[in-house]
Amino acid sequence: MARPAHRVPVTSVHHYSDSYFKFRVNRPEGLRFSSGQFIMVGLTKEDGSPVMRAYSIACPYWDEELEFYSIVVPDGELTSRLCMVQTGSEILLSEKAVGTLTLAGLKPGGKRLYLLSTGTGIAPFASVIRDDQTYEQFDEVILTHTCRRVEDLSYGYDIVLAAKACPLVGEQASAKLRHYPSVTREPFETEGRITTLLESGQLFDDLGLPGLDPEEDRVMICGSLEMLHDLQVIVEGAGLGRGTPRSAGEYVWEKAFTG
Ligand code: A2P
Repeated sequence: MARPAHRVPVTSVHHYSDSYFKFRVNRPEGLRFSSGQFIMVGLTKEDGSPVMRAYSIACPYWDEELEFYSIVVPDGELTSRLCMVQTGSEILLSEKAVGTLTLAGLKPGGKRLYLLSTGTGIAPFASVIRDDQTYEQFDEVILTHTCRRVEDLSYGYDIVLAAKACPLVGEQASAKLRHYPSVTREPFETEGRITTLLESGQLFDDLGLPGLDPEEDRVMICGSLEMLHDLQVIVEGAGLGRGTPRSAGEYVWEKAFTG
């Protein structure tokens, strides 16, 4: 497990519900990251040892602070305590940001970028949708976010608003970014898992887009292990190959959060 290298104070906390919250911390001097990367975040336990978990950095690369978006796992070793932090609480961070969910892993030449997320899997895309490079590379950016309940979608609406109001990318985000939320356990305007919406073609019909095409489409995926594997079958079935920062492909994912 990565060791803590930085101790930083929390600068703000916002609870969306009993299950989801976001918090911001001071950004350690010299800590740089690419949109979509993660870092280990943690707390010091009562016995003095650290407990650290992988968290996507959920703010633009140029932000003066770092933002994180978290679920509360009841009895979870970290999140059951992390959800109680307040302004001024001390947070541990590993030395540097890493990960495979970056634009560098995608082959040039795509027109559309699909960002497919469930639950807190939307966090890295909070960074990607405020990166000027995203809009330089793509004509259209489609952010999907699927959650159990309607209230779980709130963070997604917030980051889309923030992207459209952003001084750096606001104009391009307003023109190119499309938000496609769906819900699986309550009535909503769009219901169903992202896998079902892709397989049935409903997503493409709703957005007026053609089906996935390896020539034109690039995909970034973040969610549970099952979600990654189910989407892998779908995107690879459409002819897209997985990329890494060292060897670019048509889609990328992040497995750090899936145990
Ligand atoms: P569902 O309600 O049908 O399980 P969770 O809160 O468990 O992380 O799930 C977040 C969202 O991801 C839920 O809407 C859930 O749908 C959906 N989901 C869970 N497993 C998969 C999967 N294998 N493929 C696609 N979506 C999934």
